[in-house]
Amino acid sequence: VLIRIICLVSGYFCGLLETGYIYGKLKGIDIRNYGSGNSGTTNALRVLGKKAGLVVFIGDFFKAAIPCLIVRFITQGLYPDRFLLFVLYIGLGVVMGHNFPFYLKFKGGKGVAATAGTIFGLFIPLMILILLVLFVAVVAATKYVSLGSILLMIEFFITYVVMALNKMLCFDPNGSSRSAMIESFVLAGIFAVMSIYKHKANIIRLIHGEENKLGQKKNNII
Ligand code: G3P
Repeated sequence: VLIRIICLVSGYFCGLLETGYIYGKLKGIDIRNYGSGNSGTTNALRVLGKKAGLVVFIGDFFKAAIPCLIVRFITQGLYPDRFLLFVLYIGLGVVMGHNFPFYLKFKGGKGVAATAGTIFGLFIPLMILILLVLFVAVVAATKYVSLGSILLMIEFFITYVVMALNKMLCFDPNGSSRSAMIESFVLAGIFAVMSIYKHKANIIRLIHGEENKLGQKKNNII
């Protein structure tokens, strides 16, 4: 239990490094007052341009990927049949810090880049490849980053569960790490649920055909 709490709390603090908000402040604006009101990559790209989008993505991605890789490195030798569970705990902490930063009145981003960083930190090459291809395909076909993001979270959950049950991850579904595996399914599910909750305004816009497409600039609050 202690390791889980340490991972979750230290992750939360890593997640507080709100790259989009900080970048916006350096440019003299609160990015949350522009575009979609979000402080993530897509809105930084929309409001402040390509360079901003890239910097924000890198910042938000690596604030999750680096702690996840560190936890993976430390726990892999100690808990070879369950270390991915701890990686998920720290990744979830990062996403919570990013989505709900206490110092910004809990109004942060939607956790997509941070989840991508967590997926990278789990370091399962086949999963990374599948999810990357699906995300790029959805965004390229529809130009809706939000749709690609929401589907990414659901696909992550499904891919994770399927791979774990097929013994492609560290767990032994029939052995002593079965309960850790099930616990990790709950965590992977929380990533998806939290993201869908954060995207609720996007989902309503998507249904009404009013969602912003990639490449569309909008500076008013929507
Ligand atoms: O990066 C989050 C993305 O899925 C949607 O962002 O700004 O269009 O709400 P945004």
